[in-house]
Amino acid sequence: MNFTLSEEHKLIQEAARDFAAAEIKDAIERDEASEFPHAIIPKLGEMGFMGMMVPPEYDGAGMDAVSYVLAMEEISKVDASVGVVMSVNNSLVCWGINEHGTEAQKQKYLRPLAKAQNDGKLYIGAFCLSEPDAGSDATHQSTNAYLDGDHWVLNGAKNWITNGTTAEVYLVFATTDKSKGSRGISCFIVERGTKGFDVLKKEKKLGIRSSDTCSLGFTDCHIPTENMLGPEGEGFKIAMKSLDGGRIGIAAQALGIAAASLEKSIKYAGERKSFGKPIFEHQAIQMKLADMATELDGARLLVLQAAWMKDQGMKYSRQSAMCKLFASRIAVKAALEAIQIHGGYGYVQEYEVERYLRDAKITEIYEGTSEVQHIVIARDLLRD
Ligand code: CAA
Repeated sequence: MNFTLSEEHKLIQEAARDFAAAEIKDAIERDEASEFPHAIIPKLGEMGFMGMMVPPEYDGAGMDAVSYVLAMEEISKVDASVGVVMSVNNSLVCWGINEHGTEAQKQKYLRPLAKAQNDGKLYIGAFCLSEPDAGSDATHQSTNAYLDGDHWVLNGAKNWITNGTTAEVYLVFATTDKSKGSRGISCFIVERGTKGFDVLKKEKKLGIRSSDTCSLGFTDCHIPTENMLGPEGEGFKIAMKSLDGGRIGIAAQALGIAAASLEKSIKYAGERKSFGKPIFEHQAIQMKLADMATELDGARLLVLQAAWMKDQGMKYSRQSAMCKLFASRIAVKAALEAIQIHGGYGYVQEYEVERYLRDAKITEIYEGTSEVQHIVIARDLLRD
């Protein structure tokens, strides 16, 4: 067993760290203004970070999942909003098209998605599974599609869609045969601007405010049959497999938030004095920092294990759920402790740790709540 990163992995980690330090500025201001990181995403694309696991023949970086989580942690450490834009594009959209797409779909959609650019314009994807009445219970898709000649006609609504107002390509899940339950769900590639497809309300959120989240509507929206992703009725499995990978990415995003919380706390504890000494010398603070560091290392090992298993072609649903469950939990805890260590300063915007808490909370909710991760883990245990 080897716990050392390879030289290649170290270089990727360093490149992501350097990129984040040099290019991801003004996270506080963008958070306050709920402003999408328009200037940053194309640069991430140029670095190969928007299509990390896409093969080079489709303009991707051709890297493995371990590289992806290393980069995700570094980017999210500076701004978790940028992290989620990157994560959805990589693991939920590019991965699905690369794995299940036809050659024509890959040429048309995967190429520009992998660089996040098309003709100099921002080009990213969104993953549209959740609905107003179907979040955790994802098999109950009310959005439906019927075949009309050489088109599928989509009707329905989607909620809480990351990259919703900025995406060019949407993977939309819809029921094509209600009688078959989860085996009657199919996946469609929908282009922005398609008639009958409307980008609706942009949400005002607790955290990850500079990523954009919105609801979508489909009214007699005609999608050419060649835009079905994978076979008819395979949509739910495509969603679940994509989420297996996606959850590792969100776990890495949580690691970034936890690592930032720890780093800021160590720095502050060395500078701030109380009772005649730096607060780092108080045992109460040392215990908090030691716990934060221990939990962060534990979570990182779980994330790397899940990514490594994915790279080895092993089954990894359970490990993906475990790493998301644990990393999101310790990220919320680390952010709370960071606020406590910073005292009054922790409660105000300037010291950033209050944003970490707001950003961390969503990692316990999206791409499957912690309760859903428990279901996935427990069912897998019972299967053994
Ligand atoms: N890989 C492949 N197939 C899978 C699978 C997986 N990981 N998980 C389930 N399946 C298959 C099952 O084998 C079953 O197939 P058969 O019909 O052939 O037997 C089928 O899918 C149905 O599975 P279940 O019976 O287990 O389905 P369920 O109704 O009990 O639901 C669930 C299981 C785990 C709760 C699932 O509904 C789920 O994950 N819910 C959460 C959804 C979610 O994560 N939403 C996030 C939205 S996306 C998002 O947040 C992105 C963003 O913008 C950031």
